This record gives sequence, C-alpha cells and structure tokens, in this order.
Amino acid sequence: MTEQALEDLLSTPSTVLVQEFQKLKGDILILGVGGKMGPSLAKLAVRATRESGVERKIYGVSRFSDKQLKSDLESSGVQTLEADIMNEEALNALPNVKNIIYMVGRKFGTAGQEHLTWAMNAYLPGRVAERFRDSNIVVFSSGNIYPMVPIASGGATEHTPPSPVGEYAQSCLGRERVFQYFSHKYQIPMLIYRLNYAIDLRYGNLLEIGEMVKNNVAIDLRVGHMNVIWQGDANEIALRSLLRCSFPPVILNVTGPETVSIKWVAREFGRHFKTTPKFLENEPGDCLLNNASKCHRWFGYPRVSLSEMLQMTADWINTGGAKLNKPTHFQETKGNY
Ligand SMILES: NC(=O)c1ccc[n+]([C@@H]2O[C@H](COP(=O)([O-])OP(=O)(O)OC[C@H]3O[C@@H](n4cnc5c(N)ncnc54)[C@H](OP(=O)(O)O)[C@@H]3O)[C@@H](O)[C@H]2O)c1
Repeated sequence: MTEQALEDLLSTPSTVLVQEFQKLKGDILILGVGGKMGPSLAKLAVRATRESGVERKIYGVSRFSDKQLKSDLESSGVQTLEADIMNEEALNALPNVKNIIYMVGRKFGTAGQEHLTWAMNAYLPGRVAERFRDSNIVVFSSGNIYPMVPIASGGATEHTPPSPVGEYAQSCLGRERVFQYFSHKYQIPMLIYRLNYAIDLRYGNLLEIGEMVKNNVAIDLRVGHMNVIWQGDANEIALRSLLRCSFPPVILNVTGPETVSIKWVAREFGRHFKTTPKFLENEPGDCLLNNASKCHRWFGYPRVSLSEMLQMTADWINTGGAKLNKPTHFQETKGNY
C-alpha cells in the first residue's frame, strides 16, 4: 500500500457516519490537529461532510510545527488556523464553533518537564472549556487513567475507579476533571473519550512489535497484553461522538474488542517474516487494558479487524513504508514518559 492509499483508506467515511453528519448541526473545530491522529480525522470529517450534502466548515487548529502539513490539510478542504492555544489571545481569536474535538495533549518528555505536561493537560482544558462553553466538546483522554488490571479481568470499564500511574496519566485525569468541572459550571455537553492505542501503519504498537520481530530484537513481555484499534475506526467514533455529547459528561472507553496477546502478535509477525520471534525472560504483570463494550454497543465493532491490521503492518514493514518515528512506549509499567 502507498502512503496515499493509506491516507485515502483512513479518510473514507462509513455510510453511517455520512448519515449522522446529515443530522449534526454546525461547524467542527479540531484543536491539536497537527498530531498523529488529527490530520486523518480532519480529512475524514471533510469527506463525510461532502458526502452528506450539508454545508459545514472543518477547522483544524495547531501550531503547525510541520508546515507541510498545513498546506496538505488546506488542499484537502480543511480550514487551518495556526495558533498556540496556550496563548490566551490566540485562543480567544478562534471562531465560535458549535462542535469541538479536543486532541491537544502532551505525553513524551514529561519526565523532567512535569510542569509543562500539567499545564498542557490540566490547565489548558479549563481555558478551552471557558472559551467554548456554548459548544459540544469531545475530549480526547487516555486509558492510562485506569489502574493496571489482571489479564483475565476483561479490562477496565467506565465504572472502574481511576488510579493513574505516573504524572502523565495523573495529568490526563486532571484534564478530565477540569473539563467535567466546567461542564457542570456551564452545562456544557461533553463526551470523554478514553482511548487505548490507535495505530495507522506509520506508528503504533503493532509497527513496533513487527519491527522487533523483523530485526530479531527480543521483545519485553513485562506488559504481555494490550488493546489496539485502527485509527480510521477511532476517528469515526470520535466524530460520531459529537452527536452523543451530553450533560453530565458521557465517559466512553474506545479501543478494539480483543485483549491482544503480545506473544501471539509477535508469532503472527514471525509467520509473515518467516522468522522466530525472541522474547525476554521477564515476569508478566498486570496490564493497561480497556474494556470498550459500551463503545461497540453504541457504534458497532471496528471496521478493520486485528488480523487485517497485522497483515497491513507486515506488508508495510516489508515494503519499507514511511514511519513517523514516534514510539509509543507501550511496554512502560511505571508511567514514566
Ligand atoms: N494515538 C494514540 O494511540 C492515543 C492513545 C491514547 C490517548 N491519545 C490522546 O489522543 C489525543 C490525540 O492523539 P495524537 O496521538 O494525535 O496526539 P499528538 O500526536 O500528541 O497530537 C496532539 C497535537 O496537538 C498539537 N498541540 C500541542 N500543543 C498545542 C498548542 N499549545 N496549541 C495548538 N496545538 C497544540 C500538536 O501539534 P503542533 O505541534 O502542530 O501544534 C500535537 O501534535 C491526544 O490528546 C492523546 O493524548 C492518543
């Protein structure tokens, strides 16, 4: 698959998204569009809007550290706004828009710069919620706010009390709590979207495991199981969540249906690459696992299966596909990022 074909696949809307976009009122503003997920989410929103036959602007806000991305998004029909939203004036200058998708976050580089992570993840949400108090807000959060759980537990559900490990995860819970505070203050309809590991071939835990197998690197099994979801499916769910924002805020776990064994994934890659994976002899412990049954009940199972993701990732590695070089550190157990 070429990178263009990948982009096309990620931005192809389902029939149900197109139908729901006929019902959604107002424009969409994506805050933090410049990351791993934002560009494909913005393009998906543009295509779903066009196919739904309604008039709607899709705005994408970022600092655009990557300038090429800005013109790429513009040529796809996204109206880009270059802004550092930590700057109050820049935040206030953004247009008033009915639907907000909040994707800004900081994870890597937290160790040693904890103050920046807390400001970004737990202070900025308050500024944004004040600014967009008349909008619906889908708040990207993380499954990292849950405790590690036994593999046989079926994963943390929305009823599992949060118990974040490490300052990044604690600041993510801070982000949720601050948004919830302002939701209660102004009756802002919200949905808190707790995601575990999206992948898109150019980044993600499957790419990382596949590369370790291909390069004969022994795999650390302290974290022996994980969840994963195709980024196109995760983005669809985020956009469809705009119609499910409510007050008090809805909480939604978002990931694939399987508790995925990392050993099994490595062996599958081994079959593709005709090699035997190596593993480190370490003690497997509890894992960060997210039970997304509610999400599947609301939105259906993801369109792209785990087996397809594995096949596409193996082909991508074999053909030297582009990489973002943004490691996920999914094997981290102490919450240090
Ligand atoms: N990807 C996953 O598997 C995953 C899993 C769990 C949770 N999440 C959460 O989901 C959200 C989206 O994920 P992602 O992987 O796309 O995140 P990401 O790669 O970190 O993207 C967030 C983007 O926000 C922009 N941003 C940061 N500070 C900003 C500021 N002050 N003003 C304007 N824009 C700013 C940055 O782009 P610029 O440098 O261009 O400004 C950054 O690339 C994040 O909040 C993340 O924590 C993702």
